[in-house]
Amino acid sequence: MAQLAQAAPSGAAPDWTIPQDWARYTPAEHRLWDRLFARQALQLKGRAAPVFLEGLEVLQLSKPGIPDFAELSQRLDELTGWSVVAVPGLVPDEVFFEHLANRRFVAGRFIRRPDQIDYLQEPDVFHDLFGHVPMLANPVFADYMQAYGQGGLRAVRLGAIDRLARLYWHTVEFGLIDGGEGLRIYGSGIVSSHGESAYALEDPRPPRIAFDMKRVMRTRYRIDAYQPAYFVIDSFEGLLRLTLETDFAPLYEALKAEPDIEPGEVIAGDRLITPARRTAP
Ligand SMILES: [Fe+2]
Repeated sequence: MAQLAQAAPSGAAPDWTIPQDWARYTPAEHRLWDRLFARQALQLKGRAAPVFLEGLEVLQLSKPGIPDFAELSQRLDELTGWSVVAVPGLVPDEVFFEHLANRRFVAGRFIRRPDQIDYLQEPDVFHDLFGHVPMLANPVFADYMQAYGQGGLRAVRLGAIDRLARLYWHTVEFGLIDGGEGLRIYGSGIVSSHGESAYALEDPRPPRIAFDMKRVMRTRYRIDAYQPAYFVIDSFEGLLRLTLETDFAPLYEALKAEPDIEPGEVIAGDRLITPARRTAP
């Protein structure tokens, strides 16, 4: 549920933002970013959507060290009008949506510990920057994220946050795309995870299901393990168009009569997509 009246913690601005304090990162923290970056850049060749890889390139995220949010925001602003702001951790739904609706992406500023290189539950600066920001350099995805923020503010009023959160989870965080060059990953939770970026495409277990808005909004998800299923869009343009054209209020109403679908469950009417056998990148 949205926490409308929750005030920002002390030290944060009323919109929950805090300074990144870039100068406070230690050399070891910058080295950890470099290590994570190098490992993932290699892993994503032939696996990530071209749009994601282009974003990495144009934003110069390969520069050594944890990026400076101000510098990165300047580059992003020139491309799509987005910026990156630091927050102390998870923020209330309405604060999150308000930022997205105004083309500001909220990011954690801390970096994981070296023993968490493979997995951590709370989003750190590597997940948030490496995982999310390259997609924001793409004008279509940038518009989708803003439309999601605007939809979120409406969902708060309609009491439908949980439904909409599933759309975010199954696209922005864990989405796959089959845009003609084969199945590719674009979801930030996958691209920022070494193990899951191979698992999502190559493991025989998780079904890859063609995206359907209503179906996605009925589908629960796991936050503590690799996803038991993935949803596949065929274009970012299609996803944006659908999000802008869907009248969500009657959809939320209609969904009240439909039971939830368990993570990984395949139901009648699902169109399954089989990944092509992977060749060397
Ligand atoms: Fe994320």
